[in-house]
Amino acid sequence: MPLTGIDALAFAGPASYLEMTDLARARNVDPSKYLVGLGQRRMAIATPCEDTVTMAVEAGSKALDNFDIDPGEIGTLIVGTETGVDHSKPVAVYVHELLGLDQRCRTFETKHACYGAMAGLTASMDWIASGRARGRKALVIASDIARYGLNTAGEPTQGAGAVAMAVSDTPRLLAIDPARIGDYTRQVMDFWRPLYSKYAFADGHYSIECYLDALVGARLDAIGECSELLESLTACLYHVPFVKMAFKAHQRQMEIELGTQITREQAARWQALDDSYQRLTAPWLSLNADIGNIYTGSLFLALIDLLRQADNAFAGREVSLFSYGSGCGATYCIGTISEGADQWRDALDPSEHLSTRRQLNIDEYEALVLETDNADRQEKLEPSSFGLKDGLFYVGTRDHCRQYQRF
Ligand code: HMG
Repeated sequence: MPLTGIDALAFAGPASYLEMTDLARARNVDPSKYLVGLGQRRMAIATPCEDTVTMAVEAGSKALDNFDIDPGEIGTLIVGTETGVDHSKPVAVYVHELLGLDQRCRTFETKHACYGAMAGLTASMDWIASGRARGRKALVIASDIARYGLNTAGEPTQGAGAVAMAVSDTPRLLAIDPARIGDYTRQVMDFWRPLYSKYAFADGHYSIECYLDALVGARLDAIGECSELLESLTACLYHVPFVKMAFKAHQRQMEIELGTQITREQAARWQALDDSYQRLTAPWLSLNADIGNIYTGSLFLALIDLLRQADNAFAGREVSLFSYGSGCGATYCIGTISEGADQWRDALDPSEHLSTRRQLNIDEYEALVLETDNADRQEKLEPSSFGLKDGLFYVGTRDHCRQYQRF
C-alpha cells in the first residue's frame, strides 16, 4: 500500500476580526470567561463579499502556488463544508473553475458538520491507494463560516476560514498510517442547522460530551486499548471549536491511558496532565485562538501551527489527529512528519495575513452580521464598501446565479 498523506497546506480567511474582549464587554460578560474559560483571543469575521467559495479558492491557490503544484496534477477536488452557498450546486464546482482545474478532475462536496474535510482526506487516501489516481494528487479544501447569531451562547465560538491540503503518495508534510485510522458514528442532536436557518442550533454542553465520547470511540477503533500512546507522540491535535475544548479532549486521552475518569478538582491539581498538555497540544493552538472555530478546517489549522514551528528534529516524529463533526462522526489517526517538512514552514505560515487583518468594533461587527444575512439575495455588492481591496470576492447574484470577481 503506498504511503499517502498531506503534501501541501495553506490557510485563507477573512480580512476582518473582532477582539474577544470587545465582544465580552458588549455582552456584559467578564472577558476572562472568553479569554481563559474558552481560551479565545479573537475571531475572524467574514463580510458579505467573503464566502465559502472565495475562501476555498484563496486557500486552494496558495496551496498549489506555494508548493509548486500544477493545477493539471489534481485528479480529485473535494470541498468539505457545512456552510455551502446552494442547496444543490456544490461549492467544489465553483472552486474547480476558479482554480482552473482539469475537466477530468472528479469534483464533489462533503457535508458532515466539522467532519467534512477529514472525510475528504481519508477518501482521497483511499482513491490514491486504489490505483485510480494514476500519479495525480487530490486537493481537499475545508471552508466554513461559523455563525451562531448575536447574543447566543455560541457567539464567542464563531470564526471563518479555509484550509486547503494536497494529498499525494509522496507527502512532503505528513504521512498518515492507514493501519491506525479509527472511525466513530452516532446519531445525536448536539449541533445542527435546519434548512431554513443561516445560524447553527447547538445544545452546547451536550455537544462537549458527544465530542468526548466520539474521541474515546474513534481512538479505540484506531489503536485499541493501548495505554502508552501519548508518551511516544510529539503532538496531539484535535478539532478545536474553542481552545479549551482541546484541553478537555487531552484530559480525556490521559484518563483513557490512566484507566479512570477524574473530577474537575482532581484535574486542576494533576501536574502530569498539565505537563502533557503543555508539551503535546498547547503550543499548536495559537492560530485557533486568533481565528476562532472554522469548523471543517479547525483541526488542520492546528496542524499548520505545528508545522510552521517544526524544525528538522521533527522529521519522523508521530502526531495524533482527531476530527469531530457534530451529528456526529469522528476519525482518530496517527501521522508521521515527513523528512524535509521544515523547508515548507514559511510557505504554510499565515502570519502575514493575520497581521494585516482589520479590527472591527462591535457596531461594525453587528452591522456585518445583519448585512451577511441578506447577501445571498443582493444583486450588487461592492467589496470596497467593506474595506476589501485585492482578492476574489462574491459580488452578488444575476438571474439567481452567484457572481464572483477578482479585484
Ligand atoms: P456557556 O454556557 O456560555 O459557557 O457556553 P460556560 O458557562 O460553560 O463557561 C465556559 C467556560 O468558561 C467554563 O469552563 C467556565 O468555568 C469558564 P469549563 O468549566 O468548561 O472548564 N468560565 C470562566 N473562566 C474564567 N473566568 C470567568 C469565567 N466564567 C466562566 N469569569 C459553550 C459555552 C462552549 C457551550 C458555548 O459557547 C456553545 O454552545 N458553543 C457552541 C457549541 C460548541 O462549540 N461545542 C463544542 C463541542 S461540539 C463541536 O466541536 C462541533 C462544532 O464545531 C460544530 C461542527 O461539528 O460543525 C461545534
